[in-house]
Amino acid sequence: MFKNFIRRWDGRLRKYADRYLNRSDLEKDKEFQNLYSKVGTRKSKYTLTSMERCYSLYKAIQYITKGDILGDIVECGVWRGGSAMLAALTLIKSQQTHRKIYLYDTYEGMPEPTDKDIDIHGVPYRLLWKKEKEFLSVSLDEVKKNIFSTGYPKENIIFVKGMVQDTIPNTVPKKIALLRLDTDLYESTYHELFHLYPKTTSQGVIIIDDYGHFQGSQEATEKYLSQNPQKVLLHRIDYSCRVWIKPSPTLK
Ligand SMILES: C[S@@+](CC[C@H](N)C(=O)[O-])C[C@H]1O[C@@H](n2cnc3c(N)ncnc32)[C@H](O)[C@@H]1O
Repeated sequence: MFKNFIRRWDGRLRKYADRYLNRSDLEKDKEFQNLYSKVGTRKSKYTLTSMERCYSLYKAIQYITKGDILGDIVECGVWRGGSAMLAALTLIKSQQTHRKIYLYDTYEGMPEPTDKDIDIHGVPYRLLWKKEKEFLSVSLDEVKKNIFSTGYPKENIIFVKGMVQDTIPNTVPKKIALLRLDTDLYESTYHELFHLYPKTTSQGVIIIDDYGHFQGSQEATEKYLSQNPQKVLLHRIDYSCRVWIKPSPTLK
């Protein structure tokens, strides 16, 4: 009983600490909160990511619009479309709806993981996969409905259905300003970086959502970066998400 009491209070205190201390700056940003309320709260649960990750995506979109960084927006691993919705809403606010938004997903849930796919607690993803498969399976029609609700021009949203290993590089933008990778697993993450990083404009933004949560995502990112002569700083957004800006080609 005493243990339950401590656990309950520990949970409550952490929640308040998050709201009033750790996130007080994000809570005060009214424009962000207004957009976030449409995608990330309990009532509007269109994304699986944290408020910190949403804020960093929001800031990344503002950075590419203010800096006129050339290229389109790409997300691999879309689920219900919440991150893409936030990107679209931020682009609308910034009056930059000419950019195309490419959204890659099976729209049928997660494919079978490999042995490299282990979560932060050491649990092989294979064990979680069967349970999560259904939860993570969102149809193309549902995602379209969610994303179109933002009011972003429909003709500038490109839904690419299928395994990224099959659809990329067949359907890809010429230039990418923001590359957001969220398919969780080793094989897809490496494949996405291999084909899409070279298309990312220098000064463009790369976001790896699962770097800290899944060993496979981290291994794929580290392997790809170790083969690239340019060194980058992987900036920590929260325990899982990492972000960097692609350096200009003159930097070695
Ligand atoms: C964690 S969810 C994405 C979360 C989403 N970005 C958000 O903001 O909430 C992972 C998504 O990746 C997709 N996915 C995983 N592996 C894939 C692959 N190899 N090809 C295409 N889609 C894949 C799944 O269908 C699922 O929708």
